[in-house]
Amino acid sequence: MFNLVLFGPPGSGKGTQSTNIIDKYNLVHISTGDILRSEVNNGSPLGVEAKKYMDQGMLVPDEVVIGMISSKLDENPDVKGFIFDGFPRTVAQAEALDNLLDFKNNPIDIVLSLLVGEAELKTRLISRGESSGRSDDNEEVITKRIKEYHAKTSPVSDYYKRNNKLSEIKGEGTVEQIFALLSEAIDAHIE
Ligand code: AP5
Repeated sequence: MFNLVLFGPPGSGKGTQSTNIIDKYNLVHISTGDILRSEVNNGSPLGVEAKKYMDQGMLVPDEVVIGMISSKLDENPDVKGFIFDGFPRTVAQAEALDNLLDFKNNPIDIVLSLLVGEAELKTRLISRGESSGRSDDNEEVITKRIKEYHAKTSPVSDYYKRNNKLSEIKGEGTVEQIFALLSEAIDAHIE
């Protein structure tokens, strides 16, 4: 099994690059943002609760997302591996993921961290907001999401650095150039 975390701030290209990685390496995609948006669209109790946080650019409480991940892992017992996109986003989530995967004897293999400057993040997200219909793609909420990232999510990269799992990847350039760098890091790890 091969388990990969694609890490980075809002708008760094996690979703875009996940699509490419899944196709090439045959991994199952787990995006907590996508799962939460689908719960919001279905109007489920979880979605109604999550929406309050998402619309303000704040993280949804750890226990909610950790429960979602645990269910997803159980639903996919015989797969080549997972790509985690937008999770873990706090150190508590990273520790919970390690516990869940250790229990299955399939730890995280590699964490690829996309490095993108703040001005570029804002440009990408504002531009996406013009067509996405996402309630969190407007200037005010984008600023809060980036602030939340610095406060709660960036310590996750130190957590993985301490565990020798982190590789930093330049996340600016064309989608193809960035995918080539990600593939290089994955291939080096697999070999
Ligand atoms: P989530 O959906 O995970 O949002 P995010 O992390 O803010 O990231 P995005 O999906 O907005 O960006 P991305 O990095 O995937 O970039 P993308 O490829 O789309 O989370 C949303 C909310 O849900 C959170 O705020 C929180 O409330 C909640 N949530 C989710 N997970 C949670 C968790 N684990 N714990 C607690 N709460 C959680 O690219 C962005 C744009 O840039 C696109 O338009 C794309 O086409 C473009 N683009 C991509 N690459 C390039 C490139 N190389 N050059 C130019 N443009 C590019």
